[in-house]
Amino acid sequence: MSWFYRTAIRPRLFKYNAEEIHGQTLHALSWASRHEFVCNAMETFLGAPQLPVDLFGLRFPNPIGLAAGMDKIGEAVPAWAAMGFGFTELGGVTWHAQPGNPKPRIFRAIADEAIVNRMGFNNDGAEALAEKLAAWRSLGRWPKHPVGINLGKSKITPLDQAAEDYANSFRALRDFADFFVVNVSSPNTPNLRQLQDKLALDEIFTALRQVQNSRTRHQSIKPILVKVAPDLSFEALDEILQLAGPGNIAGIVATNTTITRPKTTDTAAQKVYAETGGLSGRPLQKRSTEVIRHLYRQSRGQIPIIGVGGVFTAADAWEKITAGASLLQIYTGLVYEGPMLAKTLVSGLRRYLAEQGLSELHQALGLHSRQN
Ligand SMILES: Cc1cc2nc3c(=O)[nH]c(=O)nc-3n(C[C@H](O)[C@H](O)[C@H](O)COP(=O)(O)O)c2cc1C
Repeated sequence: MSWFYRTAIRPRLFKYNAEEIHGQTLHALSWASRHEFVCNAMETFLGAPQLPVDLFGLRFPNPIGLAAGMDKIGEAVPAWAAMGFGFTELGGVTWHAQPGNPKPRIFRAIADEAIVNRMGFNNDGAEALAEKLAAWRSLGRWPKHPVGINLGKSKITPLDQAAEDYANSFRALRDFADFFVVNVSSPNTPNLRQLQDKLALDEIFTALRQVQNSRTRHQSIKPILVKVAPDLSFEALDEILQLAGPGNIAGIVATNTTITRPKTTDTAAQKVYAETGGLSGRPLQKRSTEVIRHLYRQSRGQIPIIGVGGVFTAADAWEKITAGASLLQIYTGLVYEGPMLAKTLVSGLRRYLAEQGLSELHQALGLHSRQN
């Protein structure tokens, strides 16, 4: 099926504008999501075998998740579980609805299996997402796997009011997801990445803690992670690690897209790399794994890491898990490899485990990063 997708389906899809195809695919998945029998059929073909991970007090049926940005407005929540994903991260969502940057804003560098995007958090706002998620629940279509929400900063909110902006979104959405990710690493909102500074991040997490503390008897504490840029220095990552711990940063999503560009002789790719925005896919793979390895070693494996960046094959997935990622996410791989990818990755990881004589995924966690 992956071969069929790559040779027969992908060339047809790639004739069209990237955002248009994305919109049509989401539209189809949204329709599928409203029909249980369609989701059941999808699950029959695309469902992944079990490879459970227990983390944050949640059970993930397998470690392969959908990365943020694919379903920003919760259009197809039930479909991702039917496509074999072990968890979904919806969003990025911002407190204020906003249109994002002018189109075109997604570009494919096909020779390198990469994407450059400058979406700029186009979304309907946190309250609209809350309504959408409430509707999936009342339809009885909520997926069985954990669902997270990626929180961004509204473009109109000044940087010094960022903490309140994130806190407003979290307050509106806290009842609708199992975990949250504070996104301070998108290159497409002016100056956002300055919020990765320890003091700024501390302010955001203090505001989020106040929301957590003001919970009612029926509300529980939600794990809140931070998503980092691959362009941060190891020193800057170490500063972020100092904020990790109970009641603070519960884990790190590594990484977002990069503003760096690889060298290429392919002229079509060169043209894409000249576009402003964040680069994802194969060229990001090595750096994202380096960041995971550094975070794992520096925290002595104590801080959960969700690894993301250039995962296309089971070998890529195994590399990131043995570098120290407890869970993984995919975005660009799905575009290039097709809808069987989650299943392929989980099956491949099970094979790797069996070859190593291991029975559970956590036994492989950080295997190649441990220092004697
Ligand atoms: C079109 C597009 C939109 C994205 N939107 C978001 C977003 O809203 N929030 C976020 O944290 N990451 C976003 N990302 C980054 C991905 O979640 C992921 O971190 C990155 O693409 C690296 O993974 P990949 O190589 O598997 O694509 C986006 C990526 C793409 C390609």
